[in-house]
Amino acid sequence: MVNGLRTVPLIVLGTGGIGRTLLRQLLQQRLHVRTSHALDLPIVALAGSRSILVGDPVLDEETILAVAEHGLSGAASYHGTPEDEQIAVLESLGERGFNRAIVVDATASDHTIPVLLRAVELGHDLVMANKRPLSSEMDVWYQLMAARKRGQCIRHEATVGAGLPVIATLLGLVDSGDEIVAIDACLSGTLNYLCSALEDGQAFSEAVKSARKQGYTEPDPRDDLCGLDVARKALILTRMLGVRAELSDISRESLVPDCLMETTLDDFLERLESFDVTMRSRQQSADEQGLVLRYLVEVSAGQTRVGLVPVPQATPLGRLRGTDNLISFRTARYSERTLIVSGPGAGREVTAAAVFADILQVATLAMNGH
Ligand SMILES: NC(=O)c1ccc[n+]([C@@H]2O[C@H](COP(=O)([O-])OP(=O)(O)OC[C@H]3O[C@@H](n4cnc5c(N)ncnc54)[C@H](OP(=O)(O)O)[C@@H]3O)[C@@H](O)[C@H]2O)c1
Repeated sequence: MVNGLRTVPLIVLGTGGIGRTLLRQLLQQRLHVRTSHALDLPIVALAGSRSILVGDPVLDEETILAVAEHGLSGAASYHGTPEDEQIAVLESLGERGFNRAIVVDATASDHTIPVLLRAVELGHDLVMANKRPLSSEMDVWYQLMAARKRGQCIRHEATVGAGLPVIATLLGLVDSGDEIVAIDACLSGTLNYLCSALEDGQAFSEAVKSARKQGYTEPDPRDDLCGLDVARKALILTRMLGVRAELSDISRESLVPDCLMETTLDDFLERLESFDVTMRSRQQSADEQGLVLRYLVEVSAGQTRVGLVPVPQATPLGRLRGTDNLISFRTARYSERTLIVSGPGAGREVTAAAVFADILQVATLAMNGH
């Protein structure tokens, strides 16, 4: 404790959109965190995929601001693998006068998995925006979550609903003994946008191109359309219910015809039109029954599937428009009317803020010796 402040050091992996927004928010709120929480959150290291900045013992504000604004250009390149050097920083924390840190994973990479596993082994806490570690092999999930039983904190609010309180809500339900009967959710802004466009009578191929133009899709829209990202989110929710499941156990409908999965991006965009007839007929048959198509996550009775499902228009999921997300929990306690969390399911500011809130909660718990 220095000047009445408890110090909880951070190591931030990933200085892309979320990582840099988080740095800006941390700098902006530094005084508030000190005065309201009696906490200091110095940053020991900022790591990218090609370079890393390590403080002596921590990074100064000016350096952090420069990374927030310009990224890690100018930082030292890795000598070995990023994983080895990031682990070396973790292992040197004791020499820097710290015994417990929060490792923040703001990457979209699998390569952080060994770093996170070593971090929990060394007694550190984790905050993740990256859903990959929690949706890789079940064994990784067990190893990370086992740390909770040792009093360490593993937080990942941003992994499913970005800034929406999805994980905290589900944890609260499960921990208080509610029985989760079913989870129904729209968890992809991109796919929700496409469903709204189909509903408005737009051709599927046109809707995909217009979503791409507006920046709603990944550079290659197939990354969204194949449903893998949604399946990863569904897997995290499924595992939180205590179900042992791998990504391959999630039944997933891809909206990319098989024959267009391996072709070039230009060829895919050109040939997508041939898929319009199929999509139009699905939309029309839903229409005739007063239903609308939604790309849904459905979790119930230990089974999880993601795909296009016709849902009644006059329901919260049916009324969902544009890029918003919605998650509905049907439980023993919320049986007649479900518990619903809804709002924007992406965005740098809201996602970084969820990571920030996780950091604050973890730091406060760590401060109290949990
Ligand atoms: N953006 C959103 O609205 C949103 C919402 C919810 C959740 N998330 C999740 O938040 C995470 C970050 O998203 P983003 O939008 O910030 O992505 P991004 O802009 O692509 O940034 C990812 C960063 O991770 C770095 N990186 C890759 N491998 C690394 C490694 N092994 N070690 C350290 N850094 C590494 C990349 O560095 P290089 O640039 O050098 O490759 C890049 O700067 C993702 O997992 C995403 O799914 C994002």
